[in-house]
Amino acid sequence: MDETVYLNGSFLPLAQATVPVLDRGFIFGDGVYEVVPVYLGQPFRLDEHLARLAQSLEAVRIRNPLDMAGWHDVCTRLVAANAGLTDQSLYIQVTRGVAPRDQAFPQPEVSPTVLAMSMPLVTPSPELVESGVSAITALDIRWQRCNIKAISLLANVLLRQEAVDHGVAETLMLRDGYLTEGSSSNIFIVKEGVLLAPPKNQFMLPGITYDVVLELAQANSMPLKVGPVSEAQLRAADEIWLTSSTKEVLAVVALDGVTVNDGKPGPVFKRMHALYQAFKNQVMRPAR
Ligand code: PDD
Repeated sequence: MDETVYLNGSFLPLAQATVPVLDRGFIFGDGVYEVVPVYLGQPFRLDEHLARLAQSLEAVRIRNPLDMAGWHDVCTRLVAANAGLTDQSLYIQVTRGVAPRDQAFPQPEVSPTVLAMSMPLVTPSPELVESGVSAITALDIRWQRCNIKAISLLANVLLRQEAVDHGVAETLMLRDGYLTEGSSSNIFIVKEGVLLAPPKNQFMLPGITYDVVLELAQANSMPLKVGPVSEAQLRAADEIWLTSSTKEVLAVVALDGVTVNDGKPGPVFKRMHALYQAFKNQVMRPAR
């Protein structure tokens, strides 16, 4: 099936969607993006993703090319055009546009390049949820504005490849002795029954899944603390989880070759995973 994409106002087959080489996304990685999971044809937490997109655009001073209704329309039409895919991973990218190469913003201003496309959403298999995954740690070599969902992801690419080179699922990053996040996920730990989450700041992406997990923990009276997580706390954790729009909630059962607790997903994870699935199914149930 030739997938349909949205590019600068048109819906067209992926193979026909091209951008000029002088696009600042290509030249400088000068743009921002979003990844939205779509279950049964319905985007999950779309307004929250669009709000974060608006924040990223504002932070890098790119004009938001569409209003909320315009984004909704693009997403709805794109999801419908790719209805052959059961669950979708909706990718949205906005770059500063096409201009002669110069680091400074183009003068006069040019139109942003807007791309939206949909890929199959591959969530973790039941086996992976049951077994958990391994991870490694690395120094957080990224810049100081990790709260912006920027397409310039070279550090994340290198960190994620480090995980692949070690045959593990994710790289957990440490900055100044504290846990920030994964190369493409947020990280939670559990110690003595208490869920601990690093606080939102400029060193991590404010994850949409992170928010859902915190909301579910609160709604279900699970002991919870949002605060800095030191490397020592990470290594002594009873449970470690990663969260993202595509991975949902997944247990990390070994870190740097050392098993986390008994090397199996823990009871708090199991509870949260069940809550997350129930919440997802409830939200995604088609309206009658
Ligand atoms: N990444 N931190 C980083 C660095 C990420 O790249 C992501 C998601 C997250 C989790 O955010 P959310 O829960 O909103 O998906 C945290 C997406 C999935 C990606 O780049 O493919």
